[in-house]
Amino acid sequence: MLNRLLTICIIFILAFTIACNDPKHPGFEYMPDMYHSKAYETYAPNPNYKDSVATLEPVEGTIPRGFKPIHYNSSPEDYERAGAELTNPIEKTDEVMADAKHLYTIYCAVCHGAKGKGDGTIVERGVFPPPPDYAVRLEGMPDGKMFHAITFGKNLMGPYNSQLTVEERWKVIHYIKELAFGKENPTTEGEAVAEASTEQ
Ligand code: HEC
Repeated sequence: MLNRLLTICIIFILAFTIACNDPKHPGFEYMPDMYHSKAYETYAPNPNYKDSVATLEPVEGTIPRGFKPIHYNSSPEDYERAGAELTNPIEKTDEVMADAKHLYTIYCAVCHGAKGKGDGTIVERGVFPPPPDYAVRLEGMPDGKMFHAITFGKNLMGPYNSQLTVEERWKVIHYIKELAFGKENPTTEGEAVAEASTEQ
């Protein structure tokens, strides 16, 4: 019995090694179609798919790796909802504020002004109507509404969702609040006095 098994094994091993010996012979193929599937060029018509389109769209709802979608749209209802639901997830540190100041200077100061007074360079040149002073407009405004306005734009202000990542938008929110109510605001005590004295 054992002998028979051994013989069968040897025959099998021999068969396999011999079969693999000839480099020009690919061996036996079961279902050759599956080994050699027909390749379609990326942009060439592919009859296997609807409309013959070879490059299919990603499934609805697909998101890039590492991207967190925001479940809001640009409507006034969602502006209110963002105000009620969202809070700033970024901790306010010196590093964050330094980043935020940098971003603010690049993207926002041109209209809102370096101190958030609504007197940026394009406003001073008379090409753009003055945006509201942050100290007035941001009073009592929840962070979520600011986030919505920066993400989707508001009236004359365009959206910044393609220029700033979600994280960067939250950082900038720390900074504009600092401009409005913190020590960066020239109308708060201390700096106001300093500015007034330099003016004289
Ligand atoms: C092209 C000029 C312009 C630029 C650039 C700009 N803004 Fe504005 N922003 C405005 C105007 C105008 C308003 C007033 C919109 C309104 O309520 O009619 C405004 C309003 C706002 C408000 C108040 C939104 C609200 O809900 O009332 C915030 C917050 C704000 N801007 C933040 C930013 C930040 C942060 C940046 C830079 C990423 C920025 N803005 C860049 C023009 C600008």
